[in-house]
Amino acid sequence: MKLTIDTDAKMLILEEDGKCRKVELYSREAFEIISHQWLKVGWNQKYTYTFTWMGRPIIQLPDDMFRIQEVIYQVKPDVIIETGVAHGGSLIYYATLCKTLEKGRVIGIDIEIRPHNREAIESHQLFPLITLIEGDSVSPSVVDQVKSMVKIDETVMVILDSCHTREHVLKELEAYHDLVTQGSYIVVNDGFMKYLYDVPRGKVEWKEDNPAEAVREFLERHPEFEVEQPEWLFNESELIENVTHWPDAYLRRK
Ligand SMILES: C[S@@+](CC[C@H](N)C(=O)[O-])C[C@H]1O[C@@H](n2cnc3c(N)ncnc32)[C@H](O)[C@@H]1O
Repeated sequence: MKLTIDTDAKMLILEEDGKCRKVELYSREAFEIISHQWLKVGWNQKYTYTFTWMGRPIIQLPDDMFRIQEVIYQVKPDVIIETGVAHGGSLIYYATLCKTLEKGRVIGIDIEIRPHNREAIESHQLFPLITLIEGDSVSPSVVDQVKSMVKIDETVMVILDSCHTREHVLKELEAYHDLVTQGSYIVVNDGFMKYLYDVPRGKVEWKEDNPAEAVREFLERHPEFEVEQPEWLFNESELIENVTHWPDAYLRRK
């Protein structure tokens, strides 16, 4: 596709398969089209590898962190389980919300917690709210360990941010979905991979092999969940769509 931003004419011009369409540049639709392309360029430029949260690198788009904050504020989970810890920034972000809400704790799982990351997380002021588990997120021993840490009447939210292949995410969904309480969510990160098959750092196979595809397959077997973009708690704009690396991410337990 060819996209032309004509700032003089205040138009966005889309040309594809011999067809041409013009959209008002300062419109909602142009914002959505430009945001989508901005996300692809930003992903290739490793924009999400430029932030820290309370001293730890957090590999997330700030928009996604703001939006999940809105969800956590509403659900107020007792336990947030995150697969994929890396440097610990997102784990500490969720622990910050728990601390401020005076409710909740965080369990982080990673196949490899490097010594310098472990040391930084364990010496962080929010570590009392955090449990680290090292191991494959879908291995039965890890899943059992996580389940043994959750009490029967607790409100649970699960966030999947480890290995993003369709197969692994599907296994994680099957392993952890039954922990998620009614009205809470299992959040499947990085479904945007499905759009990254044609960017320089992307891979052609991501067109099919991505977390959003795992969500699609999971939902065929699990009608107790529905994909829902959580409601924006404040909106004085015309906009309605998240600007996100996590399309089709929020699976709400009905
Ligand atoms: C995208 S990073 C996590 C980023 C982190 N949540 C943040 O926002 O800063 C993915 C992590 O998943 C971990 N990982 C990969 N495969 C895994 C598996 N099978 N089980 C658990 N963790 C895995 C990697 O070691 C890596 O640290």
